[in-house]
Amino acid sequence: GLPAKVTIYEVGPRDGLQNEKSVVPTEVKAAFITRLVDAGLPIVEATSFVHPDWVPQLADAADLMRGLTADLGDAARQLPVLVPNQRGLDRAVELGLRHVAVFASATETFASKNLNRTLASQFEMFEPTIRQALDAGMDVRGYVSMCFGDPWEGAVPVEQVVAVGKRLLDLGVGQLSLGDTIGVATAGHVKALVAAFADAGVGCERLALHFHDTYGQALTNVHAGLQAGVTTYDASAGGLGGCPYAKSATGNLATEDLVWFLTGLGIEHGVDLEAVVAASAWMAGQLGRPSPSAVVRALADT
Ligand code: HMG
Ligand code: MG
Repeated sequence: GLPAKVTIYEVGPRDGLQNEKSVVPTEVKAAFITRLVDAGLPIVEATSFVHPDWVPQLADAADLMRGLTADLGDAARQLPVLVPNQRGLDRAVELGLRHVAVFASATETFASKNLNRTLASQFEMFEPTIRQALDAGMDVRGYVSMCFGDPWEGAVPVEQVVAVGKRLLDLGVGQLSLGDTIGVATAGHVKALVAAFADAGVGCERLALHFHDTYGQALTNVHAGLQAGVTTYDASAGGLGGCPYAKSATGNLATEDLVWFLTGLGIEHGVDLEAVVAASAWMAGQLGRPSPSAVVRALADT
């Protein structure tokens, strides 16, 4: 049977907003995050401590987290942030943050475009970063991007993804999030990838799945993940998102679409759908364009 309970890992404020061309004011980001936390989302990834020239939209990461800490107290320190390297980790540690995520590439080309590293040398950047975070008692998530297909290299062999994922687990990450960065995954491929991790000794309790809805397959892929026993799914409120370093990466799976789907299956998620829809509709107003999420369009008041 399917799992009784699922954890939704909200990435809208980070993965969603990182690709926005016009700068979203820091206080709008803070209000969006606060609304998502209040809607019952158990984990809300807030921002990235990356190079400000690489992702200008998130250059205000420190100000944002300082403001959220003033408003929310310790709850703000529990919000995960991306850190690619030691400089990023130092910036997060300075603010007392407790949860970080490193992000690896399963392919050579994307390692170069997203991290300015080779596939092999990305681990030299992660190794001291992860070790230092664990020594400080922090929790570290490890993303792997381009787990299904890569815009430059085509289909990505499951063995290649498993090798990168195992490397991150060996370095000490707690959870692996397998990213379909450009949304080309299909249910059969999801099943094969989760099975390949199991064959390599990595159980589904260590895995999260991160789908983008480019080909409209995201929920079908979630269903395949549920059947394989995976219980953590990344999603982005309102379906915001894309990756600035992968042209064909369109919106993430919308949180609202995932919530609607899980509710229909009787799977517990703890999220107030109306409150997420209201947050996304409000954010769509701030961005000046409607949400691409079918569920938001169906349920929003306006
Ligand atoms: P680099 O140019 O190789 O950096 O970039 P470097 O290590 O050579 O350092 C150069 C300078 O940058 C130095 O300054 C550093 O201090 C500074 P200088 O000494 O010359 O004055 N620097 C920094 N400053 C602030 N914060 C930092 C930082 N690091 C170095 N963290 C780097 C390498 C990794 C930094 C760069 O490539 C980068 O920032 N990349 C981030 C790209 C990104 O954020 N992509 C989107 C997130 S991934 C994603 O969306 C996929 C995901 O959603 C899953 C999926 O869908 O697949 C997770
Ligand atoms: Mg993503």
